Amino acid sequence: MAFSMSVILVFSMLFSAPLCYSHYLYPQFYDHSCPKAQEIVQSVVAKAVATEARMAASLLRLHFHDCFVKGCDASLLLDSTGTIISEKRSNPNSNSVRGFDVIDEIKSAIEKECPYTVSCADILALAARDSTVLAGGPSWEVPLGRRDSTGASLSGSNNNIPAPNNTLQTIITKFKLQGLDTVDLVALSGSHTIGLSRCTSFRQRLYSQTGNGQPDYTLYQSYAAQLRSSCPRSGGDNNLFPLDFVTPTKFDNDYFKNIIEAKGLLSSDQILFTKGEKTMKLVKTYAENNELFVNQFAKSMIKMGNISPLTGSGGEIRKNCRRINTY
Ligand code: HEM
Ligand SMILES: *[C@@H]1O[C@H](CO)[C@@H](O)[C@H](O)[C@H]1NC(C)=O
Repeated sequence: MAFSMSVILVFSMLFSAPLCYSHYLYPQFYDHSCPKAQEIVQSVVAKAVATEARMAASLLRLHFHDCFVKGCDASLLLDSTGTIISEKRSNPNSNSVRGFDVIDEIKSAIEKECPYTVSCADILALAARDSTVLAGGPSWEVPLGRRDSTGASLSGSNNNIPAPNNTLQTIITKFKLQGLDTVDLVALSGSHTIGLSRCTSFRQRLYSQTGNGQPDYTLYQSYAAQLRSSCPRSGGDNNLFPLDFVTPTKFDNDYFKNIIEAKGLLSSDQILFTKGEKTMKLVKTYAENNELFVNQFAKSMIKMGNISPLTGSGGEIRKNCRRINTY
C-alpha cells in the first residue's frame, strides 16, 4: 500500500511537472510563442551599443535597479500617472538611469512580431545579458517567463538600492534582503568595469577629511587630484567619469585591479577591499583571475534575475513598458 502510494506520488509529480514549470523561469519560455524575441532584443541592443558604447552599461544597470525593487517586474519602467509615482524619480535613479528609449524600441519591435507576449521584465533581463556580451563579457542563458507589475515603489527604490556612500555592512544587508550573498555582491559590483558615474556620486570622497584631518588614503592621491580637477567642491555635479578608468567600455577584471591600487571610483567600490576580510579576498581573487570573475558574474546575474518574479497569472504583459495596460 505504502509502495503503490509512493508510485502514484512519483507519477503525479512527474506529470504535474509541466504545470509547476509555469511558475519558474526557463530559457525556452518564448520558443513557441515568440521564437524571434531573443534575436530582436539582441539586434536592437547591438545597434544602440554601436551608436554609443555606454549604452551597454546603462542597460545592464536597468536590470539591477528593476530587480532590487519588488523583484524583476519592470516596475522601474513605469512613468508617473495619477496613480503611479515613478521609480525614475528616486534618489538612485533621478538624473542617472537611462536607456529607456532603447527598451521602448525593443518592445515596439517585439509587439509587431508577437503582441502581448513578451514581458518588459524579460526584455530587461535579455538586454542586460546582451549588453554584457557586447562589452566583451560572459554570456549565459537567460531564464524567462517574468511578467510585468501593475505598480511601482518609489520608497522601495530609495531604500533597497544601495547608495555609493553606504557602509559595507549596509550594502551587504541590502543584498542579503534580495537573497544575494557577498560572493554575488563582489561579482556583481564588477559591473562597474563599464559605464560612467557623475561627480555627485563620489565627490564626498574627494574632499572629506578623516578624523585626524588627513585626506582619504583609500583613494590613490594622484588619481584623486586628477578627479578633483573636473569634479570641483561645488558645481559640475553631472560631469561624467569612467567607473573603470583603465578600460571604460571593456567588460574585464580591471575594475578589481583598480580597487587593489586604491583607484576605485565610488566609496562602495573601494570598501569592498578595505572594510571586509571576505570581500577583500574576493576582490583579490577576481583581480588575479578574469575567468573566475566572469563565470561567477554570469551565475550571480541569473540569481539576481530570479528575484521575486511575477509568473503564472500574476501581473500582466504590458503593451507599452512605460504604462500599465488599460482595457
Ligand atoms: C553594490 C552596490 C552598488 C552601488 C552602491 C552602485 C552605485 C552606482 C552609482 C552611484 C553609479 C553612478 C550613477 C551616476 O552617478 O549617475 C553606478 C553606475 C553603474 N552601476 Fe552600480 N552600484 C552598485 C551595484 C551595481 C550592480 C549590482 C550592477 C549591475 C548588476 C551595477 C551596474 C552599474 C552600471 C553598469 C553603471 C554605469 C551606468 C551607466 O554608465 O549608465 N551596479 N552604480
Ligand atoms: C550620502 O550621500 C547623500 C547624498 O549626497 C547625503 O545626503 C548623505 O548625507 C550621505 N551620507 C553619509 C553617511 O555621508
